[in-house]
Amino acid sequence: MEKRVLLTGGYGCIGAWVARRLLDAGQEVWVLDLREDTHRLELLLDREEMHRVHFLAGDVSDPEAVRAAVDRVGATEILHLAGLQAPICRADPIRGARVNVIGTLAVFEAAAARKDHVRRVVYASSAAVHGPADPLAGPVGDEVRLAPLTHYGAFKVCNELNARVYWQDQGIHSIGLRPWTVYGVGRDFGMTSEPTKAIKSVCAGRPYRISYGGRQDLQYVVDVADTFVLALERPFHGADAFNIRGAVETIESFVSTLVDVVPEARELITHGDRQLPIAPDLDDSRLRAALGPIPATSLHEGIAETFRRFRALRDQGRLDLSDL
Ligand SMILES: NC(=O)c1ccc[n+]([C@@H]2O[C@H](COP(=O)([O-])OP(=O)(O)OC[C@H]3O[C@@H](n4cnc5c(N)ncnc54)[C@H](O)[C@@H]3O)[C@@H](O)[C@H]2O)c1
Repeated sequence: MEKRVLLTGGYGCIGAWVARRLLDAGQEVWVLDLREDTHRLELLLDREEMHRVHFLAGDVSDPEAVRAAVDRVGATEILHLAGLQAPICRADPIRGARVNVIGTLAVFEAAAARKDHVRRVVYASSAAVHGPADPLAGPVGDEVRLAPLTHYGAFKVCNELNARVYWQDQGIHSIGLRPWTVYGVGRDFGMTSEPTKAIKSVCAGRPYRISYGGRQDLQYVVDVADTFVLALERPFHGADAFNIRGAVETIESFVSTLVDVVPEARELITHGDRQLPIAPDLDDSRLRAALGPIPATSLHEGIAETFRRFRALRDQGRLDLSDL
């Protein structure tokens, strides 16, 4: 059967890079999103490639819309990235639950209705399923008691549990992945977008303050997108959710790596000291055992590549500074 991936939230940051990766592999891409906002895709794709990305308008919290999209595409896999980020879920938990929880149920319902055709659901969970951790305790595995401190994290836990029920009751295979701080071109929104905004600010010669500090796991967006695509492709049976791991670093060492890459950053970038309330050091060994090797770009290379891309956009007069 020809592979046909329905990508919900495909106009988002991770979605744009997933689209890039699927096109590189010779596939067409079908994006289900609220509206046709191609600004992130345009940062990564040329005109000819843009024509291979097809848009279906729809709200994931509308089960009919998701089912219709699955049918229209003849989807063999669903990669479910659509969701509202932590600040919106905090401000409006009802809306957050509608999109993040009902929307994920709608994706699984559509997969269950077409299980003769849809082979797997891969969905974005989040490191926010983990609450804060004892800094001396070492890396936190997948199989710990999940105690998120945000609605956003609680919704993601709910999705992971529902995915297991769909496996148990309907035999729907699924993989949930839990990114932490994703950084790179296209990351222009959300609480953990600040490291990317710092890189962009340096490129624009502007000062920028990262409002927090402490440790986190910085994951280069290309690696994260590739990991989602591997989760679609590699052999897998059942329903599970996994930590993913990039560079576990303090914000201080993120800034000093940025200074190594671009010395002008020393004068421009400052940061706070508040630790975000998510376990910063996550163990991804179960993911590697399940899927095999996972790409891991070093922090230095990820920052350098992001800076190079921002600089190229700047030189073309296309560096959008409206998110700073
Ligand atoms: N970026 C990160 O650091 C990070 C970390 C952990 C988890 N995640 C999760 O990964 C997923 C993708 O993240 P991202 O950074 O690409 O997010 P993003 O905010 O850049 O993109 C989300 C996309 O979902 C779409 N969307 C929102 N509501 C929708 C709805 N009701 N129906 C259809 N589409 C809708 C948006 O229009 C947007 O294109 C999300 O589920 C997010 O919670 C991201």
